[in-house]
Amino acid sequence: MFKNFRWQIALWFVGLSSANYVALCLVGAMYFYTSLSRSMDEELKVVASQIGHAIDLTGNKPVFRDWLRVVETEPARSIMSMQLFDDSGVLLEHYGPLGIAKLFQDETEVAANGHKLRIRHSKLIHKGKLVGYLQLQLPVDNRDDCTREFLITMIVMAPFVLSGFGLCSYIVSGIAARPIEQLVGALQRFVADAGHELNTPACIVQARAQSLERKLSKNGLIFSDLPIICAAAERMGHIVKNLMLLAELDSKHKSPVKGVINVKDIIMSVLAEFGPRFEEKQICLTPEDMDDAMVSAEQESVDCILRNLLENALRYTEPGGAVRVSCVATATTEVIINVEDTGIGIPEESLAQIFERFYRVDASRSRASGGSGLGLSIVRALTESINGTVDVTSEPGTGTRFSVKLPISKYKSATPGRSLHTTISTVK
Ligand SMILES: Nc1ncnc2c1ncn2[C@@H]1O[C@H](COP(=O)(O)OP(=O)(O)OP(=O)(O)O)[C@@H](O)[C@H]1O
Ligand SMILES: [Mg+2]
Repeated sequence: MFKNFRWQIALWFVGLSSANYVALCLVGAMYFYTSLSRSMDEELKVVASQIGHAIDLTGNKPVFRDWLRVVETEPARSIMSMQLFDDSGVLLEHYGPLGIAKLFQDETEVAANGHKLRIRHSKLIHKGKLVGYLQLQLPVDNRDDCTREFLITMIVMAPFVLSGFGLCSYIVSGIAARPIEQLVGALQRFVADAGHELNTPACIVQARAQSLERKLSKNGLIFSDLPIICAAAERMGHIVKNLMLLAELDSKHKSPVKGVINVKDIIMSVLAEFGPRFEEKQICLTPEDMDDAMVSAEQESVDCILRNLLENALRYTEPGGAVRVSCVATATTEVIINVEDTGIGIPEESLAQIFERFYRVDASRSRASGGSGLGLSIVRALTESINGTVDVTSEPGTGTRFSVKLPISKYKSATPGRSLHTTISTVK
């Protein structure tokens, strides 16, 4: 349980860290991209202001003066294209690489002829009249390469960073879970110890009350409180045994069960045992499809699951109703044991809770009929201990169906499995 808990926390942490890491990479790449673009714009602006003095606007058309070659724009000129256009957008001359020989008035970045360039253009005015345009084009390869390299580095680092996160979270969740583990362990031990301690007096009270009742009735004496004391002692014994069983199931670490059992045989023997009680309450108990299915489990576990489900079917079905039991092997992987009744049903809002300990849909009614609300939690714990699942469908007033799915064993031997230390009990 706690190992799973640790893994779950570690996986959640790695999942969330991965999402954060991806977000971080994207934000980082965007930051790189925009700040490099901004610095390119800054560079274009500086160069444009320097070149402004090197353009002769006195003639009809703007021209670069010769001394442009010696101005401070020299380093920029080897990569930057500097173009002069006339007022109608026709290219007049250029320095540096040709770039894209077209005037772009609206764009800040263009891609054409295999070039991707950052653009800055400015109007050239002479005596209040537009005489042409100066356009600067700077390749963006450097910016794109930097951004790409940043992303590649982050991707290459991702497995190391995330494994580190995973390892740390596994260690930290182990430390965080330790006190909870100790607390739950102490609680389980307490329930088991309390169960053991209560079991003996409960058995003694029950046995003595029954014997006293017998003795008194032999002498023709009737003491009206005694049957109530007997029933209460029996109920107490039943609750104590169920609590001990749950404590044992909680503390049990799954270990491979040696040997397999035929589920059909167990169902048939439990049905034979319950038959008279169903007859007595005038409920029709019918076995339906009964496939042979070998399951790797303890005989007592399957027996207990069935007894609890049949006990409920008997308890919550009115006389004249019907209960059907089937055992269907689906393909070769699993067997489904269905216990279906035409009883009072379970309201939809209670379906999720009925497997919780001490939960009863109608507490007063269940208590009156001897129920303590532990039966289905035992069913679920036992089913899970055999790697199975239990489902319920129900409609109030119509009936309820419990389906227990168990994995079919690959082995065909009929050796009985190990047994639980605690005697498995159901209310009688
Ligand atoms: N077949 C059923 N039809 C209608 N209600 C059911 C049925 N099975 C279970 N329930 C409801 O689910 C509750 C929980 O069942 P569960 O078997 O855990 O407890 P219980 O039968 O009351 O007591 P216990 O089994 O411990 O003697 C019951 O109190 C009952 O309200
Ligand atoms: Mg029950």
